[in-house]
Amino acid sequence: MSSYVTRKTPGNTAWFTHDRFGMFIHWGLYAMPARHEWVKSNECMTEAQYARYFKYFDPDLYEPRTWAAMARAAGMKYAVMTAKHHDGFCMFDSAYTDYKCTNTPARRDLLREYVEAFRAEGLKVGFYYSLLDWHHPDFTIDMFHPRRKDPQACMRNEGRDMKRYSAYMRDQVRELLTNYGTIDILWFDFSYSENRSGEPWMKGKGKQDWESERLIALARELQPEIIIDNRAEIDQDLWTPEQYQPKSWVKHPDTGELVTWEACQTFSGSWGYYRDEMSWKSPEMLIRMLIETVSLGGNLLMNVGPTARGCFDRRACEALEVYGQWMAYNSRSIYGCTMAEPEFKAPADCRFTQSQDGKRLYVHLFSYPYGYLELPGLAGKVDYAQFLEDGSELTFTEGRVEHFSLGATRQKDLLVISLPAVKPRSLVPVIELFLK
Ligand code: GLC
Repeated sequence: MSSYVTRKTPGNTAWFTHDRFGMFIHWGLYAMPARHEWVKSNECMTEAQYARYFKYFDPDLYEPRTWAAMARAAGMKYAVMTAKHHDGFCMFDSAYTDYKCTNTPARRDLLREYVEAFRAEGLKVGFYYSLLDWHHPDFTIDMFHPRRKDPQACMRNEGRDMKRYSAYMRDQVRELLTNYGTIDILWFDFSYSENRSGEPWMKGKGKQDWESERLIALARELQPEIIIDNRAEIDQDLWTPEQYQPKSWVKHPDTGELVTWEACQTFSGSWGYYRDEMSWKSPEMLIRMLIETVSLGGNLLMNVGPTARGCFDRRACEALEVYGQWMAYNSRSIYGCTMAEPEFKAPADCRFTQSQDGKRLYVHLFSYPYGYLELPGLAGKVDYAQFLEDGSELTFTEGRVEHFSLGATRQKDLLVISLPAVKPRSLVPVIELFLK
C-alpha cells in the first residue's frame, strides 16, 4: 500500500485520486468574441456592448454526447463545466436571473444536457461556479470589474449590496445541487482578498464577501460527499494549482501535510475559446504534464474551450486524440497510481508512478535511452518487467550491465533493463515493473 497520507477533508476524494484525469470545460458567451473569457473585463466593456453576445448566442451544433465520448476516449474520467463564469451569464435555467441561456437563441438548459450526456458516458460530473459576477447589480465594482475605469466608478457602488449578492449565490448553488442529481465536484472560482491596492473601493474580495461558510455549509448539506475546491477561501477538499506544474507533492501551507491536489491546465493559454491564440502545447508536453502530475500524487484537469457553435475546435480535438492514443495503451500507469514510494528514485529523464496497492512501479521514459536503462536502487526488487503498451517482456540484469565494453557500469544496487533500439510507438513509452 502507498505510504502517503493526505490531510483529511470533508468530501469523498477516494474515486478522485483513483481517476486522476478530468476535463475542464469553459463555455459561455465569451466563446463568441473568442478572445479570452475575461474579455468583458479586459476591454472594460459596457453592459450594452456585451449584450450583443447574449442576443446572438446560438450554439446550434452543441452535442454534448459527442463531447462526453471524446472525453472518455481521451482517458478522462470526470468533467467540470462552467455553470456561470465571471461575466455572470448562467448556462443553466436559474429561477433567480434572466441572464441565462434559456433566454438566448439557445433557448434550452445547456448545463442539463451536459450533465445527462456525461453521466450517460460513465463520467463523473462537476460544476464550476464563479464567485465573481460582472453582471449582477449588487456585485460591487472592484479592480477586476469592467466598470472600474468609469469616472464615477466608486459612486456607482452606492446601493450595491454584496449581502444580496451572496444570498443570490446560495440560491443558485441550491438549484445546482438540487435539480441535477448527484454532482461530484463543485469548483468555486475565486478569491482575491489579499489584493488591497488602489482606492479602498477597488479592494479584492474573499470569504467575508462571499459568505463562504454559509455557501459551503449549504453545498455540504445538499450533497455531503461532494468535492469542493479551496477557492472560496476556506479549506475544503481540493488544492488547485493553475497553469503551474508543482515540482513536489503539494503541501498544506500551515501544517505541511500532503493535500489532495489537482493541477488545471489549458491547451493554449486561455480557458474560453480563443480563436487566434498560437500557444498550443505540443503533444509531448501534454502527455508529460499528465505523467508528472500523477508522479507527484496529483490529478490533472485539462481544459477545453468549446466554440460559440457548440463544438470542440479542431486543435482541441487533436490534443484530445493525443491523450487518447497514449491512454489507450498506457492508462494503467495513471489510474489508481500515485507518487512512487520514497525508496524509489527516478533517474534523469524518467518519471515514476506506483500503483496505490504498491505492487507495480511504472517507469516513464521522457527520452529514450540507447541499449540499457540503468535503475539504481532496484536490484533484487523486481520480479518481472515489460513494456506497458504491448506487454512485451523486457529482460534485465542486476549489479552490472552485461556488455563486453570497457567501462560498462557495475554497481551493486543496479537494475539494468535491456531495451530494443527502436523506441515503442507511444509518445512516452512506459515500462511496467512487477515488484517482489
Ligand atoms: C482563473 C480565471 C478564470 C478561469 C480559472 C480556471 O481564476 O479567472 O478565467 O476560469 O482561473 O482555473
